[in-house]
Amino acid sequence: MRNILVTGGAGFIGSNLTLALQEKHPDARIVVIDDFRSGDFKNLQGYRGDFVAADVSRLDWQAQFKDLIFDAIFHEASITDTTVHDQLLQVHDNVEGFRRLLEFAVPHHTPVVYASSAATYGIGTGRMKEDQPAAPANVYAFSKTQLDNLARSYARRHPSWKIAGVRYFNVYGPHEAHKKAAASMIYQLYLQMKAGKRPRVFRAGEQKRDFVYVKDAVKMTMSALSAPQSTVYNCGSGHAFSFNEVIAELNKSLGTKLEPDYFENPYPFYQPHTEADLTLAKSELKYNSEYLPATGIAHYVAHLEGRNQ
Ligand SMILES: NC(=O)c1ccc[n+]([C@@H]2O[C@H](COP(=O)([O-])OP(=O)(O)OC[C@H]3O[C@@H](n4cnc5c(N)ncnc54)[C@H](O)[C@@H]3O)[C@@H](O)[C@H]2O)c1
Repeated sequence: MRNILVTGGAGFIGSNLTLALQEKHPDARIVVIDDFRSGDFKNLQGYRGDFVAADVSRLDWQAQFKDLIFDAIFHEASITDTTVHDQLLQVHDNVEGFRRLLEFAVPHHTPVVYASSAATYGIGTGRMKEDQPAAPANVYAFSKTQLDNLARSYARRHPSWKIAGVRYFNVYGPHEAHKKAAASMIYQLYLQMKAGKRPRVFRAGEQKRDFVYVKDAVKMTMSALSAPQSTVYNCGSGHAFSFNEVIAELNKSLGTKLEPDYFENPYPFYQPHTEADLTLAKSELKYNSEYLPATGIAHYVAHLEGRNQ
């Protein structure tokens, strides 16, 4: 690959992806677009490529890139704070950014991999499968559902064009600190426990999440480029892990014995259980999660403690 575009490359997943792409394709020209609304330049330490500081939903893509043809586009840019309830802002910026990208990519059928979200499944209790109907419970999830709908509609009209969605579950790992309250629960609980405080979770800590380590998420995002057809893939570890189990693993890694401090959940739209069915990603992308939650948490804590990279 000679020319690669990454949107949202100053963010958590986007920066891990950009640096992994740079390592895999050292001679490629990489361009990142990000408007820093939730990203941080510090995530791109060691990045040698080009950077366009712009809002993807307002950028004139043709004027910006003229006759530059990309071999691949990875779309990570999005408002990612699910507590932003401004419906116009959330839907405009997330959906129009993707529409502009697709209009830019359509003439050359540039392969596109875009970030979808497990939030599109809504309030479920069992394993989540790509073909089940969307049930967005907040406007962020609604905007991500619109991305899936847009991708499907463009793909139907252009059957030889590959547009692959990667439906991330709960991603955690290095480069998420800038997300503050929107960072993963694993990182929030680590910070509390590191400070010697009892970790605070909703009663009774048995809500489960499919936590996926960012290295696995990046691996799947890159392999989605070779999807056999346009589709969307669940991206998780394939395991539902409770907050109590996260706390137990953090205690092990930190050498602490802190008991959970339970409090009442004030959110009626809170997902009690997320769990990715990985059948499609396994069969079509040969994806296998390398970091099951216990391994990923141990690796991440070692990184946060400066014991590895
Ligand atoms: N982290 C997760 O657990 C998770 C779960 C599901 C889906 N996702 C999706 O993955 C993608 C990456 O998320 P993340 O966790 O890295 O979040 P992040 O907030 O760290 O990254 C998003 C990046 O996009 C940039 N951005 C936002 N809107 C933009 C715009 N209109 N124009 C240009 N840049 C813009 C931000 O500045 C930021 O750098 C997002 O699309 C998100 O919805 C993430």
